Amino acid sequence: MSAVLEQSMIVFRPMVEEDLPAILEIERAAYQFPWTETVFRDCLRVGYCCWIMESDDDMVAHGVMSIAAGESHILNLCVHPESQNIGMGREMLDHLLSIARQHRAENVFLEVRPSNEGAISLYSKAGFDEVGMRSNYYPAESGREDALIMARHLT
Ligand SMILES: CC(C)(COP(=O)(O)OP(=O)(O)OC[C@H]1O[C@@H](n2cnc3c(N)ncnc32)[C@H](O)[C@@H]1OP(=O)(O)O)[C@@H](O)C(=O)NCCC(=O)NCCS
Repeated sequence: MSAVLEQSMIVFRPMVEEDLPAILEIERAAYQFPWTETVFRDCLRVGYCCWIMESDDDMVAHGVMSIAAGESHILNLCVHPESQNIGMGREMLDHLLSIARQHRAENVFLEVRPSNEGAISLYSKAGFDEVGMRSNYYPAESGREDALIMARHLT
């Protein structure tokens, strides 16, 4: 864990609708193709696990995950660009994995752009393996980009 993260007061809390303006700001700063407000509202409405991570009272990351029939799917994991590379992403991911365990999920899946080397590195170090590919899954500058499917078993 980085010294910055070690000295921070990290708090996880469930996302609420009032968080959406701040979340959208982080989302738009971090992604070239950010989720829309409607997508976040739908995730909250259907009861997905939607979490916020705060560091010293500042929102620094969000994560969205679905869980059903023993399988969990990480749908979004996003750290504010100013807080990246100091261990926040790993903390958020560990939190989502612990929530999945609490819900008795046995496997966790996610999609990631093959070009997203930072995220792939994070997931690989957290025990995820590449298990497949979805063609033309993501919007891209020119056309579409495939998605790498990664998965890990939860013990
Ligand atoms: C991907 C993302 C979540 C990683 O979060 P982060 O807080 O920057 O990552 P961390 O600092 O927790 O790093 C965790 C591990 O991943 C590795 N990693 C993270 N970013 C990396 C990068 N750009 N290049 C290489 N490795 C990287 C680190 O080496 C670290 O391993 P270590 O602890 O052994 O050093 C963050 O960069 C982000 O939100 N990006 C924009 C949104 C996004 O792409 N989300 C993923 C969608 S699938």
